[in-house]
Amino acid sequence: MSFVRSATRLAAVPFVPEISLYQADDIYALWAQTERHLGRAGLAPPFWGVPWPGGQALARYLLDHPALVTGRSVLDFGSGSGLVAIAAARAGAASVVACETDPLGQAAIGLNAAANGVPRPGCVADISAADPATQVVLAGDVWYDRELAAQVSAYLDTASAAGACVLTGDIGRRYFPRGRYRCLASYAVPASIALEGKLVLSASVWQANGLPPRSGYPARAAGEPASYSAIQPSPRPVTSEPSRLRTAMATSRFSAATGETR
Ligand SMILES: C[S@@+](CC[C@H](N)C(=O)[O-])C[C@H]1O[C@@H](n2cnc3c(N)ncnc32)[C@H](O)[C@@H]1O
Repeated sequence: MSFVRSATRLAAVPFVPEISLYQADDIYALWAQTERHLGRAGLAPPFWGVPWPGGQALARYLLDHPALVTGRSVLDFGSGSGLVAIAAARAGAASVVACETDPLGQAAIGLNAAANGVPRPGCVADISAADPATQVVLAGDVWYDRELAAQVSAYLDTASAAGACVLTGDIGRRYFPRGRYRCLASYAVPASIALEGKLVLSASVWQANGLPPRSGYPARAAGEPASYSAIQPSPRPVTSEPSRLRTAMATSRFSAATGETR
């Protein structure tokens, strides 16, 4: 937890200024710093160090429509900094659980919850440990990676078919199965040039329409590698070369979809 605090600074979230998070000024520098701190190379990016635009849109929507979560149990899948989980707590959720694989992310979620005066969400690293009867399931900006999207999609489809209210925030990333969702709202959300190549992005909040779960998602596009998540900066992140990291992140994980409508 002290690493999270020392490597970041507490700042308001651009599109959700009611919430402040421990954020990195430069996520590439944070990535390198994290590897030095843990003495390990080839780590996944420190997603917890920034509020992602899809998560900002979803958090905004929850604060503006609190009845969606007030008095209900909530799960935030792919929680990162905990932004969406904290917004749900602020909006009056009865209980909040954050699912996040990164241990530093889990530490950030606790720190960020305290900074915003809400109870620390329960944290699980594996979605199978979450309560399947959760009433509201949320997922902010989780559609950038094939394997993650497959896992999230299966979980959200099952939850929606079982009667949960399922909401996701997305900017049109490659693996978002938008045919299974209806759009509730769209916003112009401030973005990071370094990460997204734009100062402002259109980010939407979507609700699952309750279609039954399906198998075989997502289909692979022609010429696409077997697994996007298998692509890491090669041969390993060269942390002294930010432009190389930027390229690696943009091409392997963060490129938004163009016209894919699943
Ligand atoms: C792009 S970030 C979005 C974070 C946050 N929801 C937001 O919008 O700011 C995606 C998050 O999903 C997490 N993640 C990746 N695979 C996961 C998995 N299998 N289960 C839970 N979380 C996962 C990553 O560690 C990362 O924090």
